[in-house]
Amino acid sequence: MDWGMKNRLAGIITPASGRCVMLAIDHGYFQGPTTGLEQPGETVKPLLPYADSLMLTRGVLRNVIDANNRIPIVLRVSGGTSILKDDLSNEERTVSVEDALRLNVSAMAMSIFVGSENEKQTLKSFSDLCDDGQKYGIPVLAVTAVGKEMARDARYLGLATRIAAELGAAVVKTYFCDGFEKVVAGCPAPVVIAGGKKIPERDALKLAYSAVGAGAVGVDMGRNIFQSKWPVEMIQCVRSIVHDGKTDAQAWDMLNELTNEAVQSGS
Ligand code: 5RP
Repeated sequence: MDWGMKNRLAGIITPASGRCVMLAIDHGYFQGPTTGLEQPGETVKPLLPYADSLMLTRGVLRNVIDANNRIPIVLRVSGGTSILKDDLSNEERTVSVEDALRLNVSAMAMSIFVGSENEKQTLKSFSDLCDDGQKYGIPVLAVTAVGKEMARDARYLGLATRIAAELGAAVVKTYFCDGFEKVVAGCPAPVVIAGGKKIPERDALKLAYSAVGAGAVGVDMGRNIFQSKWPVEMIQCVRSIVHDGKTDAQAWDMLNELTNEAVQSGS
């Protein structure tokens, strides 16, 4: 692997642990002002010390993230649709590689929509992006299985993640499912999981623990952190699972300690 590619990847997957805590705040690119991200700059400020990298769009990056911040950036470079449309798969590339380089990003991220009407369009765009990534030494992260209509089972996720890796993804983001070990085993690139819709903190910690236990290198998590009542504590607990080998039960105890028993009493 070329030095630049390797160096950028090291900002995403920590070499010492081989693990990754990516904080995802790119939801606005099709959802608009997502709950918890109305003021994304304010939301992320206290979370950044605990994230290995930050996934977002160039608009949010340029407008609200301090350029003196040294957090590695995973730049979403696809878009073109919104929640007002039934079919979210009609995406295209939205950012040039020159702009990604100007922003000094550590990786570029694009969704692929395997099995959708726009499968070919998104897979071709993704392959072209991987070509650009190779040319300039920028890793590409594939985002798989976004959208309501996708069956998020091991068969589908195994197919989507494998295709992403075959086309050149350096890292593949997907969702946890039953039989997740098979998904990871069939994907030659490192796999991270998205958290998905907000669920109770205890369940989100279990999700992170189960994913890492099944072979994921970590998380690219958003709503289960920034929509939590305890976002700063939550990211620390997720981090303790990913990097420090804590179980979900230990991380839950940690969350209770950090929040002064507020979690268990539900206050
Ligand atoms: C949306 C994305 C998000 O980054 C991804 O879904 C991760 O966030 P969450 O943990 O909230 O699901 O790629 O297209």
